[in-house]
Amino acid sequence: QKLDLELSAIEKGGYDHFMLKEIFEQPDTIYDSMRGRLDLQAKQIILSGIEKYANEISNTNRIVIVACGTSWHAGLIAEYVIEELCRINVEVEYASEFRYRNPVIHPGDVILAISQSGETADTLVALENAKKQGAIILGVVNVVGSSIARLSDAGAYTHAGPEIGVASTKAFTAQLTVLNLIALKIAALKGTISDERFLKLSEELHDVPGKVQWILDTQIEKIQQIAKKYKDARDFLFLGRGYNFPVALEGALKLKEISYIHAEGYPAAEMKHGPIALVDENLPVVFVATKDAYHEKIVSNIQEIKARKGKIISVVTRGDAVSENLSDDFMEIPEADEVIAPLISVVPLQLLSYYIGVELGLDVDKPRNLAKSVTVE
Ligand code: G6P
Repeated sequence: QKLDLELSAIEKGGYDHFMLKEIFEQPDTIYDSMRGRLDLQAKQIILSGIEKYANEISNTNRIVIVACGTSWHAGLIAEYVIEELCRINVEVEYASEFRYRNPVIHPGDVILAISQSGETADTLVALENAKKQGAIILGVVNVVGSSIARLSDAGAYTHAGPEIGVASTKAFTAQLTVLNLIALKIAALKGTISDERFLKLSEELHDVPGKVQWILDTQIEKIQQIAKKYKDARDFLFLGRGYNFPVALEGALKLKEISYIHAEGYPAAEMKHGPIALVDENLPVVFVATKDAYHEKIVSNIQEIKARKGKIISVVTRGDAVSENLSDDFMEIPEADEVIAPLISVVPLQLLSYYIGVELGLDVDKPRNLAKSVTVE
């Protein structure tokens, strides 16, 4: 018993929980996911696992992203990035729906599977079906040699290392890193990105580990206080626009998983079509309101919630006085290009749900009813 306890403490590397350890590993795991792949000097992205299919992928008319859970949220962000940079039509599907609904698949379509474990049953079967119909399977998987990795024609591993916490954190940011690399590579091959933009985004990607480290170094105390203040809320709403809309979904999912507090994520503009009816002085609303093309719009969404007395917690770009002044509480992140921003803006939300779970005395590493890998239907 004592030995078991000691072993588990060693495995957690001095952290109270695997989830916290894994959140803190992100500067390294993001770096590891691009190491040897992003060559700033040569202005090149090397992904040996997709070179053989690089032409097919860049000439395809359609990419269908198939995933579940947090990996599906990474897929939603990839949709925005790939459509913007590569001008290829992208659809994002829940694997469980895609596998049962007789989807239209043409030979040459690219099915992009995103999976931490590489063993999720719905994702695996969806891919097997698509492969039979002539699709090219491109895998973004964390576990080497897993079923989805073996089924893929081409792919790039995320180098997040083993993820033990049931709620996915470092696997998600590793997925976003690799998906950005794939998008940049295809865009360069297709000529849909200028040299200048390619270089700018490559440099921004290179700078992400340092920016995540900044959050871990400076925001913890503030986030712990926010967690204390709001831990007894019954519901939470998470809102974001553009690249940060899926981040809002992921923030809500993390909170549900870890704290059992009911939380919903929505595109900020969509709140008028329903969720705004929930707003009163008891509802905390988390805005992912970083400086991007949508900033003015989201500021007016914040004002709308404020007018209805909702409590505003926001993730803001450092020094954005406008959003800070409108918020009851805020968490800061360093400035980043909007394409890259989700890699950074998700981190305060991971920490917020972690600390709320801890405040509530819950088993954050093994939430009730959840499994790390869902290998049955
Ligand atoms: C389970 C896990 C989630 C994960 C999802 C998809 O629900 O608890 O953290 O996002 O499965 O798993 P995958 O391994 O395919 O990414």
